[in-house]
Amino acid sequence: MAVLESKISLKNVTKTFYTKDRTVEVLKDITFDVRENEFLVLLGPGQCGKTVLLNIMSDIETMTSGQIDFRDGHPKMGELGVVFQKYALFPWKTVMGNVEMSQKLKGVDKATRQKKAQEYINLVGLQGFEKSLPKQLSGGMKQRVGIARAYASESNIMLMDEPFGALDAQTRYQMEDEIIKIWEKNKRTIVFVTNNVEEAIYLGDRILLLSSRPSYVKQEYVVDLPRPRSYTDKAFLALRNEIVNNTDLDI
Ligand SMILES: Nc1ncnc2c1ncn2[C@@H]1O[C@H](COP(=O)(O)OP(=O)(O)O)[C@@H](O)[C@H]1O
Ligand SMILES: [Mg+2]
Repeated sequence: MAVLESKISLKNVTKTFYTKDRTVEVLKDITFDVRENEFLVLLGPGQCGKTVLLNIMSDIETMTSGQIDFRDGHPKMGELGVVFQKYALFPWKTVMGNVEMSQKLKGVDKATRQKKAQEYINLVGLQGFEKSLPKQLSGGMKQRVGIARAYASESNIMLMDEPFGALDAQTRYQMEDEIIKIWEKNKRTIVFVTNNVEEAIYLGDRILLLSSRPSYVKQEYVVDLPRPRSYTDKAFLALRNEIVNNTDLDI
């Protein structure tokens, strides 16, 4: 029953890299479920294997052992909505060109896919910038394109790998607000990776705290604070202290 209620279920996912001169144990028995339409945050220190884990979930990387079950069937390559830390936009393509890409690859006709892409461009607040190239956009705007592009894949599952890590603090706060507004308007199942404890509490329905390498799920926190949340709220700070006291993060 529990498995059926979960959108994604990971069991004992383990990853060890064997290179010529050494063995690196990165993930060790990672077990958790992701519920449909929840905003799940994976919080862990740098180098603990967060990107490796998302790459395994999106089939870019293989696991050494373990199991991942997708309730609605394993998504095919390119079917998941993925947002990367480093924008990863096609620099020669316009905003529209980037956002319509996944539908174009699926062979959807131009009028239909551009209409769809326009909806997501509007959703992230970039109307008027359809013809701009990535180099003409600020970091925050580029990341909005990344989010619109992931949404346009029409996958219910979105994997976000420190998407705001490269932004200045001000823009980062703005984008944290934006992603919640976007998600509230158009719910998806989000797995959001960060090494920032405040960001995790600000965004997550639930936070899974990862240990340093070899990484496992150290603790689960349910964040039942109403949104929009406040960084200075007493309950927010109490949770922050609790998490910080339980981590090996340098934060
Ligand atoms: N292809 C690889 N071969 C060997 N080690 C790797 C490879 N990819 C990642 N690693 C190691 O896995 C660890 C975790 O990397 P990563 O998932 O990028 O960390 P995070 O995203 O949490 O900062 C790092 O120590 C890295 O050196
Ligand atoms: Mg990473």
